[in-house]
Amino acid sequence: MKRSMKRVGRGACGFLLTAALLAPTALDAEEPAESMAEVYAAISVLLPLSVQEQGFAPAEARSQATLAFARLERASQALLDHSEGRDAEFFALSRGLAADAELARWAFEMGRLEEARFQVHLLTSHCVDCHSRLPAADSGLAGRLFQRAELAELRPTERARLQTATRRFDDARASWEQVFADPAIPPIEMDASGWLSDYLRVSLRVKRDPARAARALAKLAERGDTPRYLVSRIATWRQGLAKLEPEKPGDPRARAIALAKEGRDLADPPTSTNGLVHDLAASSLLLEWIDARVRGDGPDPDLELAEAWFLLGQIEDRTAHGSWVPRSEVYMEAAIRAAPDGPRARAAFERVEETLLMGYGADGVSMLPRRERERLEELAAMVPASP
Ligand code: HEC
Repeated sequence: MKRSMKRVGRGACGFLLTAALLAPTALDAEEPAESMAEVYAAISVLLPLSVQEQGFAPAEARSQATLAFARLERASQALLDHSEGRDAEFFALSRGLAADAELARWAFEMGRLEEARFQVHLLTSHCVDCHSRLPAADSGLAGRLFQRAELAELRPTERARLQTATRRFDDARASWEQVFADPAIPPIEMDASGWLSDYLRVSLRVKRDPARAARALAKLAERGDTPRYLVSRIATWRQGLAKLEPEKPGDPRARAIALAKEGRDLADPPTSTNGLVHDLAASSLLLEWIDARVRGDGPDPDLELAEAWFLLGQIEDRTAHGSWVPRSEVYMEAAIRAAPDGPRARAAFERVEETLLMGYGADGVSMLPRRERERLEELAAMVPASP
């Protein structure tokens, strides 16, 4: 089950964080933190340039960006090299970041400056996605970044996104709450754009702070311009939030399974996001459990791990909207690999197949891009065919 990946530069840890900060090429680390500081150093140059009117075009911007793009590419490759032994989603997100960083550098070098600017924006979604998975403390690194004049002009929702990308979670929550209180922004837009779910994701998964989220949502519901469906959905969410507090003791996996079931039952009609709070709380527990499980020595095949991934896939299908790109196929693939003969494998395979064929608009497997075709064929060979 272990992914085979090249191991680069394994070495003693300890001083490396400082070393990495002092010497940009010292990426000889075991943990992501060292490559992250490097990624951040690059992004803190690229972001302010990318939001400026002239972007990367002025000569000085160009020379700063040349270094920063190279640094970003190197550091995201280092992150990817160090994701061995981490869970499948972590690996997929690092791979996505490394690929996008390469693309951005390439566009920049080809002189396609607008495209490079766009890529910088796009690739931050991997930062957001990866940082919104597990409980975490805020980082001090980007403390002053958002005071820069260029970034002060950002819309608060965009600022919240980038604050999440740079692990300024409390600042991000404050930015979203500012939006919820802004009479110029209709609440329907907050729901339709996925900001409410982005906010809840950070509140529940990263900060584990249902109480503050409940207060912010209550204020939103009291606005005179909040549509009735949203007022009543917020009431459902708040009931869920109240149940999450105080954090219940007990087996987190069993609790996650129960929460996910409640989340599914609340989704009526199935397209509604009534179960969002339950689903996010369940996914939070599952991700944390998985993180610990894959770092330890689980059985192989691992039926419990497969079940956890499968549930995450189902939750993702229910909750991914707004700015989130659904990753159910990553979860379903992980469910298969954890236990190819397990009871969930066939359904998981079918979901991967459906997602890939639909996602690429392919009439058949042969029309998929080579990498996806090979991936699907490999999974098909692992999973027993339908009776
Ligand atoms: C695949 C997962 C993943 C991706 C993608 C990712 N990060 Fe991180 N990041 C982490 C983890 C895990 C940590 C916490 C490291 C630790 O403390 O061990 C972290 C920490 C950080 C920190 C805090 C570092 C510190 O020492 O305080 C910053 C800043 C950061 N990331 C920025 C970024 C930016 C910017 C991007 C995107 C360009 C990004 N990260 C993409 C996983 C990721």
